Amino acid sequence: MSSQQNNNSNNVKQAASSDKALDQTLRPQKWDDYIGQELIKKNLNILIRAASERKESIEHLLFYGPAGLGKTTLALLIAKELGAQIRITSGPSIERVGDLASILTNLSPGDILFIDEIHRLNKTIEEVLYPAMESRSLDIIIGKGPSARSIQLELPPFTLIAATTRIALLSSPLRSRFSGGTFRLEFYTDNEIKKIITRSASILGMTIIEDAAEEISKRSRCTPRIANHFLKRCRDYAQVAGQNEIDINSTKQALDLMEIDAAGLNSHDRRILNVLIEKFKGGPVGLGTLAAATSEDEATIEEVYEPFLLQLGFIERTPRGRMATENAYRHLGQKQIQGNLLSAS
Ligand SMILES: Nc1ncnc2c1ncn2[C@@H]1O[C@H](COP(=O)(O)OP(=O)(O)OP(=O)(O)O)[C@@H](O)[C@H]1O
Ligand SMILES: [Mg+2]
Repeated sequence: MSSQQNNNSNNVKQAASSDKALDQTLRPQKWDDYIGQELIKKNLNILIRAASERKESIEHLLFYGPAGLGKTTLALLIAKELGAQIRITSGPSIERVGDLASILTNLSPGDILFIDEIHRLNKTIEEVLYPAMESRSLDIIIGKGPSARSIQLELPPFTLIAATTRIALLSSPLRSRFSGGTFRLEFYTDNEIKKIITRSASILGMTIIEDAAEEISKRSRCTPRIANHFLKRCRDYAQVAGQNEIDINSTKQALDLMEIDAAGLNSHDRRILNVLIEKFKGGPVGLGTLAAATSEDEATIEEVYEPFLLQLGFIERTPRGRMATENAYRHLGQKQIQGNLLSAS
């Protein structure tokens, strides 16, 4: 690699890591900075207070909902509130029973174990988790063949907090073991997102004019992570344009450059809607077919694109497959006439 290339790749790495560090700074550190999700916060506060008064650890919790709505942030805040140590891992990184056994046996009393993407935990590991969650016991088999023997270890009191974007993939025995509760995170209102943007801008040391914050919030898919991401890009744009504040004009230009439309759809979302409308006359079309036609995989469509398109009421899930709604046609400027299409203009 030439030194120029080396420099470039270092710069890219540095930029990526500084972006990551920035994400850490923007993450709410106090309960009051966690905007929205009021009902969940109320429920959690009661759980936390009651458990603290009894000097017990809180029961196991499950958070689910689309990416970027604040599941990990909630888990970190709970640990902070309890003054507990949090161990963070994820479904795909626990490959063998031994991995889970070592994580569990290394917990100290009162610790929180956070397992992200718990739907990707494999079944044999899930079965080891059941007794650990229920009766704090770990049953493991040591050795192979005739010399194999099973031993039971007692675990310290701990709280499992799990997060998933795909609750439907969790087996019901696993789901039922989250005795502290299962909480579904909701999309945020424009007003809540605006508050998040304003807070983030002040952390970044940037002034953002109110209408610019409104514009970003309208296009942020009701999702804090996306709002923060857009804010950072709008900041870059304003900076390069020599402005010391983020205003509506530079914001619109920056978002347009990123191909984010007025409803917050990006080019991938629009492509899915266009394929649904143009190739399949608006549906119904099965997920597999839609995935093949858009060269996406089914899970990406279900996890990444669909939640927000459903939230906007642009697509519907019917027993016969996905359908584009009238709103989607209107948004894309297409007319829907008895299943046939005419361009609106
Ligand atoms: N309620 C909130 N108030 C303020 N900022 C928030 C809130 N929720 C999330 N954020 C911001 O959005 C970012 C993404 O949140 P987080 O990582 O918790 O999402 P997640 O639900 O765990 O996503 P994933 O499913 O991808 O793991 C955080 O870094 C934080 O800055
Ligand atoms: Mg997360």
